[in-house]
Amino acid sequence: MKTNAKSIQNDNNYYFPKKKITGIGASPRKNGNSDVLLKYILEGAKRNNIAVENVQLRDYQFQPCIGCERCRKDKICTGLNDGMHLLYPKILGSQGLILVSPTHNYNVTAWMKAFIDRLYCFYDFDDNRSSGWSSRLSGQARKAVLAAVCEQQSKKDMGFTLEAMRLPLEALGYEIIGELAVLAVFNRGKVKEKKEILAKASTLGANLAKSLAR
Ligand SMILES: Cc1cc2nc3c(=O)[nH]c(=O)nc-3n(C[C@H](O)[C@H](O)[C@H](O)COP(=O)(O)O)c2cc1C
Repeated sequence: MKTNAKSIQNDNNYYFPKKKITGIGASPRKNGNSDVLLKYILEGAKRNNIAVENVQLRDYQFQPCIGCERCRKDKICTGLNDGMHLLYPKILGSQGLILVSPTHNYNVTAWMKAFIDRLYCFYDFDDNRSSGWSSRLSGQARKAVLAAVCEQQSKKDMGFTLEAMRLPLEALGYEIIGELAVLAVFNRGKVKEKKEILAKASTLGANLAKSLAR
């Protein structure tokens, strides 16, 4: 696998993301509610003539960030050589991003948390501790939409799921153009029966595609 810092920095995608949307699903449950939501969001986008890709984190072997801080110098993760290096080009090369996670204990799943933490390599930090930082993904008109699904009926029981995706993506330089919170769905794929929610998911994807076309 060609994953050293230089090969990624020399890739034109690094600086010029394409008008493409990558959707990231973070449920461990295949054909579950998150999978259905992501499928509908991507279909809504695709109807607006944009290339889309469906990525399920459970299909990749990758570790959580180990905090080695090597990326501060290397500008990409060089502390771990794992499946995340198959995902970096997809993120770098797509102007649009969709994150979908079920709620696990009031938060995103461990897969989504690990994925987001591994995007730490796109930050530049000043030499002085606790001071300035910026993201190398900012200023590229990157846009994203988010969706979360949980079992309980109250938004409170969804906890931080949407915030845990929104705040890091905004820090990385994405404009969040829409969010969908789906409550009260438990059984695998049960959300398929909720036509109103599926329509909202599709609209979310369409809006993301339209916002990139401008
Ligand atoms: C480990 C675990 C933790 C969960 N924690 C919550 C929770 O805090 N709040 C909630 O409403 N539902 C919780 N759920 C239920 C899921 O969010 C719900 O079943 C959802 O529809 C699963 O989506 P999926 O099919 O995409 O995996 C939890 C489920 C699991 C397996």
